Amino acid sequence: MVTSSAPGKVYLFGEHAVVYGEPAVPCAIERRATVTVETSEPGELRVHAADLTLDGFTVEYNGDPDGHPDVDVATPLVEAGMAYIQGAIGQAREVADAPNAGFEVHVESDIPLGAGLGSSAAVVVAAIDAATRELGVELTAREIADRAYRVEHDVQDGQASRADTFCSAVGGAVRVEGDDCRAIADVPELPFVIGYDGGEGDTGKLVAGVRQLRETYDFAADTVEAIGDVVRSGEDALEADDFEELGKLMNFNHGLLEALGVSSRSLDAMVWAARDAGADGAKLTGAGGGGCIVALDATERTIDALKYTPGCESAFRADLDTEGVRREEA
Ligand code: PMV
Repeated sequence: MVTSSAPGKVYLFGEHAVVYGEPAVPCAIERRATVTVETSEPGELRVHAADLTLDGFTVEYNGDPDGHPDVDVATPLVEAGMAYIQGAIGQAREVADAPNAGFEVHVESDIPLGAGLGSSAAVVVAAIDAATRELGVELTAREIADRAYRVEHDVQDGQASRADTFCSAVGGAVRVEGDDCRAIADVPELPFVIGYDGGEGDTGKLVAGVRQLRETYDFAADTVEAIGDVVRSGEDALEADDFEELGKLMNFNHGLLEALGVSSRSLDAMVWAARDAGADGAKLTGAGGGGCIVALDATERTIDALKYTPGCESAFRADLDTEGVRREEA
């Protein structure tokens, strides 16, 4: 039996635009998905998933495509979650050249599902690490990132960048531009505050919406390029430890995402609450449509303000996690 964990992430800058080759800077946060894997009967795959939302649920899934688990979360999210785990197990079987290996998998996560914090990437990364180790193979973090990307790419119909999976596998702040993925050294302590509206966005639909806008209007394509410019300026601000400038650029990034139609009333309300409370800056994180915002504030003011913001279900601090995927004691 092997247990591995991997962190979720926020996008400091660059979601959506990264899908079209612009750079992005995701940062791993101290919220993890933990996956325990044990080999079982050949060909079998049993998955037990608890706490995949903040409310938590448990699902027993035996890989039967007609079986719909009876749980209190949106069914497509559960099905997507299972597709990610099946994909991860498929990768492990391939790596170990054990196509018929059976597994019993337990998933626990303190990253809300589909909320822009990279829950699926964290689950896939941790599952690939645990399942390959269980079969006696040890992959590097980069190899895990690459295989996790293939799973996300398949499950999300080819609409995934390498950002989430690379960030979760290696930890810390990273820079992703197309296939070029690297860790960013000497990152200052970033005082992230997360606001969560309790909802989720459909990443595939939101990415498709931006794609269509970009194909229809030149100014939408320019908006995507402008996000790339914001990211490049953001990298300079990060290197200079200039939080005021970082915050301004986060605000700008949010405005551009809003223009691309991926924000929502509750995300905007939380962004404004954070700004009014004195945060350096605030933006939605991830695909949008609902889910989470990320603000920069070393004081408690933003968390306090978010707690009283209509539409905000929970607010919490999430420090940068310098560690990526890791083996846990079972
Ligand atoms: O909401 P998340 O954590 O799935 O992030 C999606 C980020 C996008 O840039 C919209 C898509 C991608 O794969 O990069």
